[in-house]
Amino acid sequence: MSRSAHPAGPRHADVYPEGHYTAPAADLNLLDEKVWARSVRRDDEGVVSVGGLAVTRLAEEFGTPAYFLDESDFRARCRAWADAFGPDADVFYAGKAFLSRAVVRWLREEGLNLDVCSGGELTTALDAGMPAERIAYHGNNKSVEEIERAVRVGVGRIVLDSFQEIVRVAHIAQSMGKRQRVQIRVTVGVEAHTHEFIATAHEDQKFGIALADGQAAEAVRRALRLDGLELIGIHSHIGSQIFDMAGFEVSARRVVQLLAEVRDEHGVELPEIDLGGGLGIAYTSEDDPSEPHHIAKALNEIVSRECESAGLATPRISVEPGRAIVGPTAFTLYEVGTIKPLEGLRTYVSVDGGMSDNIRTALYDAEYSVALVSRTSDAAPMLVRVVGKHCESGDIVVRDAFLPADLAPGDLIAVPATGAYCRSMASNYNHSLRPPVVAVNDGEARVIVRRETEEDLLRLDVG
Ligand code: LLP
Repeated sequence: MSRSAHPAGPRHADVYPEGHYTAPAADLNLLDEKVWARSVRRDDEGVVSVGGLAVTRLAEEFGTPAYFLDESDFRARCRAWADAFGPDADVFYAGKAFLSRAVVRWLREEGLNLDVCSGGELTTALDAGMPAERIAYHGNNKSVEEIERAVRVGVGRIVLDSFQEIVRVAHIAQSMGKRQRVQIRVTVGVEAHTHEFIATAHEDQKFGIALADGQAAEAVRRALRLDGLELIGIHSHIGSQIFDMAGFEVSARRVVQLLAEVRDEHGVELPEIDLGGGLGIAYTSEDDPSEPHHIAKALNEIVSRECESAGLATPRISVEPGRAIVGPTAFTLYEVGTIKPLEGLRTYVSVDGGMSDNIRTALYDAEYSVALVSRTSDAAPMLVRVVGKHCESGDIVVRDAFLPADLAPGDLIAVPATGAYCRSMASNYNHSLRPPVVAVNDGEARVIVRRETEEDLLRLDVG
């Protein structure tokens, strides 16, 4: 049942079959390490800490709601991806998941590259010293100004997304006397999400150029003819929050098939393929993501096998994980404001944030977990829906979860795995102020994106 068609009734936005949630964990005080950043612990007094700092202290110093990001976990995940793929591949962190200047510095120091998809992301990257040649520029409708700047600063690659863009980028590069390295983004007819993938002849979506009907082959033909372009490879991104490698397998096979066609037609072996991002993370204990080395092994094997059977040298592979790097490294800390038990239904727990700091639940029916973090409790579990403070009944942060029945206003609760697509998709709805991102590392906490203020709001409102 789709969200737009959910039936009217008392259980607003209850789009899941009744009772879909699993039973409460045996001990609500235990933190499942799968969903929490690596340095998160519950100390002897029962308070949860990250990087050695108690959330009670963090809340006092930085306020709530706030995102707390475990820097050493972020760096470790970068290294895990880089090590897993090795020196003959490139890992591009997808900045759309969450980008700030501190993040760019960490990426730079850990040897990762960066995928940007807007002028704003490019500015952030360059400002924080990411070398332009380590940047890939994406987007289905890059403006002429964006392309000009990308070419001028010398980004390592522009990923071409349409026939118009092939000509546009070629023209701009040529007029600057440059030859821009580019990839062509193809749609392979596979769309993968979470546990399943769907294959269709033509993907009905806005990105890329279809492999079907020889369109991608035609795009290659045109790109190879243009002096302003150096075509280095083919790009494919098949979806997000994917756990099943089968979608990547189909995608890699089809991309390699195109490389073989290009070799046969033009006598050129394109040296690179990019398989995009989309690797899933654990939002709840039920999710089982793979480790980077398993993913790297699987992708390398698929590509080598396909290339071998097509008689091609194995191209250099790149991947673009966003969520899988930053997602698990952060949690959102909220203070409980009001608690409303609805007899026979559930208890609504209102926090001081909501859909403005996490739109994913409302937008994608995303599932999250939640824990009481300012103390332990031996009270019985109660079924809750964690909601925000916005003027909208779909303002849900965690649809169904269990918290201790003695939960009280003033308690701190935290939602793990909010590092990706939460702050980056945050809004000012109801003129709320977007929360800060605080990086925590080894006993130190540092604001990397400050909390918005009412002055920030008024600054944009010119009266
Ligand atoms: N590369 C390309 C070309 C992409 O379009 C994306 C994500 C990524 C890499 C990174 O994907 P990741 O590894 O983070 O899944 N707002 C949605 C996700 C949108 C993803 C868009 N593209 C969400 O919150 O789930």
